[in-house]
Amino acid sequence: MKRALITGCTGQDGAYLAKFLLEKGYQVFGTYRRVSTPNFWRLQYLDVLDKITLIPVDMADMASILEAVTLTDPQEVYNLAAQSYVGASFDQPLLTAEIDGSGATRILEIIRHLRKDIRFYQASTSELYGTASETPQTETTRFWPNSPYASAKLMSFQNTRIYREAYGMFACNGILFNHESPLRGMEFVTRKITNAVARIKLGLQEELVLGNLAAGRDWGYAPEYVEAMWMILQQETPDDFVCATGEIHAVKELVDEAFRLVDLDPGRYVRTDETLLRPKDVELLCGDCSKITRVVGWKPKTTFRELVKIMVDADLKRWQDYLKGESFPWDAQNYPGDITLLMRHKKK
Ligand code: NAP
Ligand code: GDD
Repeated sequence: MKRALITGCTGQDGAYLAKFLLEKGYQVFGTYRRVSTPNFWRLQYLDVLDKITLIPVDMADMASILEAVTLTDPQEVYNLAAQSYVGASFDQPLLTAEIDGSGATRILEIIRHLRKDIRFYQASTSELYGTASETPQTETTRFWPNSPYASAKLMSFQNTRIYREAYGMFACNGILFNHESPLRGMEFVTRKITNAVARIKLGLQEELVLGNLAAGRDWGYAPEYVEAMWMILQQETPDDFVCATGEIHAVKELVDEAFRLVDLDPGRYVRTDETLLRPKDVELLCGDCSKITRVVGWKPKTTFRELVKIMVDADLKRWQDYLKGESFPWDAQNYPGDITLLMRHKKK
């Protein structure tokens, strides 16, 4: 039986990847952070918590990563752990560099010294393009990061490539464009919108306050993107691949589509607040996935409108069930409505 180690198993992608690999017959080991309140809701939601083995790891702590790799002796390592919220990286730039930049390098060093034949997947990102020099973006488009998050991810991207070329390691980057799902974290714009739309529809919330409505993103469906991660590691030759849908939609379009699905007029409920603007944003991302389609055979399936519907339906059902007194693994009921007050960044 093949063994896979997933760092960041409690996150959106980690949970979907754990489920996917279990279905492929893998023995799955997942790292989690030791915190005062357990955070296993996604693994419970997908009914995989008792089917995987969890290991406490902090990406800042070399010893805990070394122990995880040694104990699990995996054939494949998927490095998904990260401070993944771009906005927060402006508030915590050094922590983000430590986790997202140095963290990946710690694993690469461990693999280099311990067992160079371990296959390594690095969760790289379309944020690397920042102010993009061309559209759509491909594997050869210039990187021009616009946030401390992206500059930290640039380090892990480059070290993954460098360890591949310098030491002959099977180390690959997936340059994934935004991918979303009902398991998306609450602070990201898609889920913030779909959760608010559900609450407004049910009379639980009066308004939705957003930042940059003009930003354009290439949004795909997360379960399809974790399959791409696995496919990348099954190739004969290690390489880097873009994963994207090739379609751009503005945040404003997402708002309109989500409100349309519940027959409400966004004009009545949505306002913008400049304190939610980032000190520097990425205005437009759109990927060209022709390389991964040609070489690996992966392509996206779920359309933008289908994705928004999946997320709105899920959040609506959760709040309806909650109002009926049902309890189930879920994040939103513990998420204060005024959380944005705590996370405001000032644009200078
Ligand atoms: P996510 O939901 O935020 O999950 C991040 C995971 O990393 C969580 O399990 C989190 O643990 C863990 N983590 C955070 N800090 C850590 C630390 N110091 N030590 C150990 N673990 C830590 O992110 P995601 O959306 O699943 O994304 C997965 C990866 O893909 C991330 O590296 C992200 O940057 C990258 N990526 C995501 C997208 C996207 O659109 N989703 C696109 C491109 C790249 P807790 O649960 O305890 O917080
Ligand atoms: N989060 C958030 N909240 N974003 C908002 C809001 C708001 O209230 N209003 C407008 N936006 C805009 C942001 O300024 C950004 O331009 C866009 O919506 C998307 O923001 P996020 O959903 O936070 O995602 P992201 O694109 O910054 O980053 C995500 O995708 C990257 C891949 O491109 C994250 O998952 C990263 O980890 C990932 O690398």
